[in-house]
Amino acid sequence: MSKQTQGNNRNGNFSSSIGFVLACVGSAVGLGNIWLFPYRLGQYGGAAFLIPYILFVLLFGYVGLSGEFAIGRKAKTGTLGSFELCWKDRKFGKYVGKLGWIPLMGSLGIATGYAIILGWVLRSLLGTMNGDIFNMASSEYFAMAAGDFGSVPYHILIIFIAAMFLLIGAVSGIEKVNKVLMPVFFILFAIIAIRVSFLPGAIEGYKFLFVPKWECLLDIETWIMAMGQAFFTLSITGSGMIVYGSYLDKREDILKASIKTTIFDTMAAMLSALVIMPAVFAFGIEPTAGPSLMFITIPEILGKIPFGNLIGILFFTSVLFAGITSLMNMFEAVIESTQFKFNINRKVAVVACAVICFGIGVFFENEINVGRLMDFVSIIIVPFGALFGAISIYYALGKGKIEEELSQGSNSTISSIFSIVARDIYVPLTVIIFILGIIYNGIG
Ligand code: PHE
Repeated sequence: MSKQTQGNNRNGNFSSSIGFVLACVGSAVGLGNIWLFPYRLGQYGGAAFLIPYILFVLLFGYVGLSGEFAIGRKAKTGTLGSFELCWKDRKFGKYVGKLGWIPLMGSLGIATGYAIILGWVLRSLLGTMNGDIFNMASSEYFAMAAGDFGSVPYHILIIFIAAMFLLIGAVSGIEKVNKVLMPVFFILFAIIAIRVSFLPGAIEGYKFLFVPKWECLLDIETWIMAMGQAFFTLSITGSGMIVYGSYLDKREDILKASIKTTIFDTMAAMLSALVIMPAVFAFGIEPTAGPSLMFITIPEILGKIPFGNLIGILFFTSVLFAGITSLMNMFEAVIESTQFKFNINRKVAVVACAVICFGIGVFFENEINVGRLMDFVSIIIVPFGALFGAISIYYALGKGKIEEELSQGSNSTISSIFSIVARDIYVPLTVIIFILGIIYNGIG
């Protein structure tokens, strides 16, 4: 349904609800879905894990994501302006509102790490195309990519592509790119999942993923990991989703869009599980997560299956699409805020963001360094951003204000249960996630 845009953010508006949802799905579907969810699903109880996971992801989607969208739309601007708005009538609010810089730096930090990892993905894609990745042990190939200054040209190319996409025409560019890349991602992953199901022994992977181990539900760690995963996967960071919300038309129903985003993100996670685990088990490999899964185990498997190079091309292309659309969201948060805070032209803001991301990132290309950077940002900064966002939106802004924004564009009134869930359950959970993340050294 195409609608006339109603003046909102100065960068423009999404032209349709599906464009908005796909852009948010683009942000939400990323490495977390691909290299972490499948492992967690199997490790923490198979089908039993889905119970806490779905519970949390729906809760966070319904109140967390929608709150971030709503504050952005209300403020008509992204991270910095939204936090200022939340705190402006509060004592010391002028200063507290400035803490919005922290989530913004969180976006820049994850973007820096993501760009490096996507450089490895691009390199693996090219290696699959020319066969280089199959000519040596995949661990050796990866060690080359993930050493000091090991992937500079690929790293530059990734940042360049994301920056170009963001220059196509601000919001309309973001919308166009996501409208193509996200459906292609789903289609390619579905094709790979079908191919993988024909591998002899794949059944063991399905058993790992889906045979419920109910006793896991008695282990608190299952609930903690499900909660962390649900949080990170929705990109609730007090930053990226706020800026996309600021590009949303007043006539759109935020709650519906939040739920759709959550459903598509969960579908992407399930699809990833169906791609990865049956393949891993078919070859009797121990299931893992993270970079070693993506850059060592997967190429090893690809080298062993007929037409593995073809599947590899589809696989790394889809991962690239999932990652670039997340990277664009993190960049956009930084770009929009600097554009309006410092009153600079969008092109200048895009170039500055790209240069800073590379300028810092180039010293973190080594696997250990990028791991440390990502840990620091995803364990401390991002959960803090989400927590600060939750408090700002549901407490500092003042009672009823966000509900008022949410009811615009919706045919039904926001029930009083929503506010209770948001203030008494969601906000405390963000605090718990922040603390548990530190205790467990990362849960998202
Ligand atoms: N949601 C993304 C994932 O699951 C990660 C992300 C976090 C993207 C924050 C944007 C902002 O991988």
